[in-house]
Amino acid sequence: MRVDLESFDRMYRREGDPWNFADSDYEQHRYRCSIQALHRVRYRRCFEPGCSIGVLTAKLADRCDEVIACDASAAAIEAARHRLAAHTNVELHTATLPEWWPTGRFDLVVFSELGYYWDVAELEPLVDRLAVAARLQRLTSANGKSTVLFVSTSAQPGGINRLEIAEV
Ligand SMILES: C[S@@+](CC[C@H](N)C(=O)[O-])C[C@H]1O[C@@H](n2cnc3c(N)ncnc32)[C@H](O)[C@@H]1O
Repeated sequence: MRVDLESFDRMYRREGDPWNFADSDYEQHRYRCSIQALHRVRYRRCFEPGCSIGVLTAKLADRCDEVIACDASAAAIEAARHRLAAHTNVELHTATLPEWWPTGRFDLVVFSELGYYWDVAELEPLVDRLAVAARLQRLTSANGKSTVLFVSTSAQPGGINRLEIAEV
């Protein structure tokens, strides 16, 4: 069963930055590890679902020509808009996966601390969609590879226990 997505929105309205993404040393370390894991210096078009208040989004925007980011919480997206006002290459949406998926092609997709809120039945169609998108990309571009970065960490400070990156 899916987690109650409205509870995220209530949490953002109540606490602003519930995980302390902007200021915690641990979260900054996690973001650094995530960015360091990227295979390429630059990406053309990135999709970041579950972008929260946009802290990682800002770092991705420095490495990508364009970032499309979304979050199920309108309050989080409002905060992200504020944080990313100067980043003209970022497009933000209040939207929920897997129901919503942006149009066009991406050479980077970042699932950061997101997959574990979904059940397997929801993840499977998404993985299929990524596989199809990757195949299309390969057919239509000379060096058409996409990078998928999947980050899932433990609750232990400093305990990044799963940071996977795949070229598909
Ligand atoms: C733990 S936060 C991770 C934030 C950010 N990706 C990071 O790594 O710092 C998870 C975020 O995913 C959002 N979220 C959870 N399920 C979602 C879904 N199905 N579609 C879009 N956003 C979702 C929540 O609202 C929350 O902001």
